[in-house]
Amino acid sequence: MAVIILGIESSCDDTGAAIIRDGEVLSNVIANQEVHRLYGGVVPELASRAHQENIIPVVHEAIKKAGIARSAINGVAITVGPGLAGPLMVGTAFAKSFAQGMDIPIISVNHMQAHVLAHFIEAPKPDFPFICLTVSGGHTQIVLVNDYLDMEVIGQTNDDAAGEAFDKTAKILGLPYPGGPLIDKYAARGNPDRYTFPEPNIPGLDFSFSGLKTAILYFVRDGSAKDPAFIEKNMADICASVQQRIISIVMNKLIKAAEQYQISSLAIAGGVSANSGLRRSFEEAGKAYGWQTYIPRFEFCTDNAGMIAMTGYFKYLKKEFSGLDITPDPRYRF
Ligand code: KG4
Ligand code: ZN
Repeated sequence: MAVIILGIESSCDDTGAAIIRDGEVLSNVIANQEVHRLYGGVVPELASRAHQENIIPVVHEAIKKAGIARSAINGVAITVGPGLAGPLMVGTAFAKSFAQGMDIPIISVNHMQAHVLAHFIEAPKPDFPFICLTVSGGHTQIVLVNDYLDMEVIGQTNDDAAGEAFDKTAKILGLPYPGGPLIDKYAARGNPDRYTFPEPNIPGLDFSFSGLKTAILYFVRDGSAKDPAFIEKNMADICASVQQRIISIVMNKLIKAAEQYQISSLAIAGGVSANSGLRRSFEEAGKAYGWQTYIPRFEFCTDNAGMIAMTGYFKYLKKEFSGLDITPDPRYRF
């Protein structure tokens, strides 16, 4: 009998639902929240309210698009963390009632583990072991992946995430949230060698982005003090130079991790892996170091429920179910 899983994602500002059958994604629906654009970042209370409005229509649409009967669903997979407490609560409460109403098991999913397992949604799929650089708005991790559900964080950020470095730079430059895609766009027209921003000296495989953020803040403040049109005139070059620095920070650590663990199967995941400069640098490093490189399709890089359903599927096969007493864990580690 086929295994059909409904996956639900609500850890930040995207409400997602997906259906997968025997590991194949049949539908992957996402409702983005425009309401945060004006605030320069996600406003948790507004996100919770939007999730409440979106969750039922999004789940209905995912079931409809998959062309399956609701009664055919064998389990519901839900992100329990890490993420924002209120938004996680909306998803978890919905998933619990759905599971109870349908009398099916509930499967709790770690959002960061799911970003890694997004690589198993479509071919080519990496062989174990591989190393995954997961770069998102809330996290920056280097993960050693031994098996679907056996992974270890071998490097992480001490402060801001790579996505936050993009988003905070955008805010300094007066660009709306989320800033990553806009910086990517401006950077394509700019000179990445025009300005040099500092590379932090952090031991091992860990990261830090807070010094970079401060350097950018002072750089823009000083430039604007001399010329009020400084940002406007130099936007493309500033974006290209900042982007180049963020990429060199993450790529240098990834190269170090590959050498240290003697692994030549490398992957990137998370929202920032949608960045065109990072994708290019990653592929170039792959050629230079003889790696097999894996990047999910754009739709599965940023937050989505397909990756939650996929993780739920692997856990379902191992009968790793949770009770109806599960609660969200905003700092959930694996
Ligand atoms: O994984 P994700 O969708 O959500 C989290 O789990 O955080 O990642 C969102 C992050 C945001 O910081 C956004 O600015 C960044 O991914 N991002 C990008 C690009 N597209 C999304 N950063 C740089 N370049 C992009 N093209
Ligand atoms: Zn994410």
